[in-house]
Amino acid sequence: ESEIKESSTNESEALIATLPTREGWSTPLTLYNNCWLRSHMLRRFMLVRDNFKPRRDDIILATHPKSGTTWLKALAFTISTRSRCDLTDSPLLTTNPQRVVPFIGAVGGDLDFLETLPSPRLLATHLPLSLLPPAVSTVGCRVVYLCREPKDAFVSRWHFDNKMGKGAPIALDVAFSMFCQGFSPFGPFWDHYLQYWKESLARPQEVMFLKYEEIVSDPLTVVRKLASFLDVPFTEEEEKSGVVDQVVSFCSFESLRKLDVNKTGGAERAGGKIFIQHSSLFRKGKVGDWVNHMSEEMGEKMDRLVEEKFKGSGLEL
Ligand code: A3P
Repeated sequence: ESEIKESSTNESEALIATLPTREGWSTPLTLYNNCWLRSHMLRRFMLVRDNFKPRRDDIILATHPKSGTTWLKALAFTISTRSRCDLTDSPLLTTNPQRVVPFIGAVGGDLDFLETLPSPRLLATHLPLSLLPPAVSTVGCRVVYLCREPKDAFVSRWHFDNKMGKGAPIALDVAFSMFCQGFSPFGPFWDHYLQYWKESLARPQEVMFLKYEEIVSDPLTVVRKLASFLDVPFTEEEEKSGVVDQVVSFCSFESLRKLDVNKTGGAERAGGKIFIQHSSLFRKGKVGDWVNHMSEEMGEKMDRLVEEKFKGSGLEL
């Protein structure tokens, strides 16, 4: 068995040596299967497709980064644990939401560790569907996909990379041009959105497609929908006693941001390559903040790109 392992390791090392790697963001990115991954995470993510074992009752929260992952994790975790955990006792009071739902294959979400978790598992990923095992679709895992208007997602990405990077800040126009070429962590963003969009059309009962803006404009409706999707709909009693409102306000930007753990905590990731301050996960939480950073011309360019890439898909951003 160890010989087999060694030969497959040699094979993947030989493959890695052929993959394009580019600098520009806070850490180098490598193009693997048409997706730009942080180079220091590549080996971990390459294992996921063949080694992650999806279970029929898994729930996977999938997002393109900076689309509201932290928020979605907080909401899904709070909704699904509410019967056994009161809000006044919630682990989210002392733990950043990113920590309570592990990212498949990433630090804190090692594949061996995921095997030990009891069902149903609540998991997360930034990987495109094409880098997850095909069994995710065939066994029928439930997926909640959250996307965000690309100009806002870009501005959020740019701020975030500048915060966690150890080098000189990235100029906005340089970052913009890289993002529009599809060169950004887990990019191209359009392929990411479209893969999950198509999956939601093919498996509407099992794949819920959400937009950040939709949660901002009507959080109560989304939270109710999400609870039903997670098989834990709010009861009449809960509705009457205002539990839906409580979940929404508990997970709101303002409420989570002001917790000590989210003001001061942080984590060294993947051998110290990047440092994520919890506070950098809570920047502004607004729709349309791009106008404060991008020129009108950049906005129009991005809108044209989006129109071209999403044409005919039925997905409106
Ligand atoms: P901004 O940079 O525009 O403020 P992710 O969690 O995928 O990394 O996304 C981060 C974005 O979601 C940031 O956007 C962040 O402020 C916003 N965000 C984090 N928690 C939120 C919450 N509870 N409600 C709304 N937005 C939130």
